[in-house]
Amino acid sequence: MIDDQAVVSLTAFVRDAFGATVTEPPADALAPMVRLLERETRLRRWLPAWIVRRLDAGFARSNTVHPDTARALFAIVRAAQPRIVFETGTYWGFSTSILAAAVREAQGTAVHTFDLYPKAGAHIAQALRPWIVVHRGQPSVASMPPVLETTVPDVFFQDSRHDYDGVRDELILVAPRMPANAVILFHDWVDAQVRRAAMDHLPAADGWRLTRIAGEDPQQLGVAWRRAARAESAL
Ligand SMILES: C[S@@+](CC[C@H](N)C(=O)[O-])C[C@H]1O[C@@H](n2cnc3c(N)ncnc32)[C@H](O)[C@@H]1O
Repeated sequence: MIDDQAVVSLTAFVRDAFGATVTEPPADALAPMVRLLERETRLRRWLPAWIVRRLDAGFARSNTVHPDTARALFAIVRAAQPRIVFETGTYWGFSTSILAAAVREAQGTAVHTFDLYPKAGAHIAQALRPWIVVHRGQPSVASMPPVLETTVPDVFFQDSRHDYDGVRDELILVAPRMPANAVILFHDWVDAQVRRAAMDHLPAADGWRLTRIAGEDPQQLGVAWRRAARAESAL
């Protein structure tokens, strides 16, 4: 059953979906997001949000994920052991860096990240760039199809558009190609349009289950996942 209200702890999700335990991201991978959040919180004590967004390049166009969501992304991607990760919504590259840090010990794993912003990914650390392919300057619905011709993600982090049509258009492109063991992570799960698009386009009949990961991020992290049915042992 698909339940948009279900909430599970990160520990329980990683255990139940993958039989794994939570792995913490290295402090250096998480630090940029912690610094941004602290700076934003400090400035917002004195200034209204719209001025903060104008003053600081870190907030000028959009938001990076909350450190708690970054921690969850890292743990889930580590546990899922994907071969290919897709991300829509690179922005400066902070969540991209967390995704890459989670896969860098696996051989041949790559993170493809898509953003229409021409400067997307500008803050990705040099050390992580070998794991990342940045596709920028076009909407995701234009830049993903050529990549999907040769590459299929087993993990997809959706963080570009958060309106119903935007989420739907990306899911229609990516989800049907994903393998039997697959994970789709949604930032802004708090937004009913994101949840509705996920419920409409990730049917239980295709094995998808949806839940929210409990955490401190007010924008919330949603997750859809499916696992291949285990072969019954011969009697
Ligand atoms: C919330 S930010 C992503 C933050 C990033 N995931 C992080 O945590 O650091 C959203 C990004 O989506 C991009 N975006 C918006 N609409 C898009 C579209 N149709 N295709 C690709 N990228 C899009 C914006 O340019 C922006 O950089």
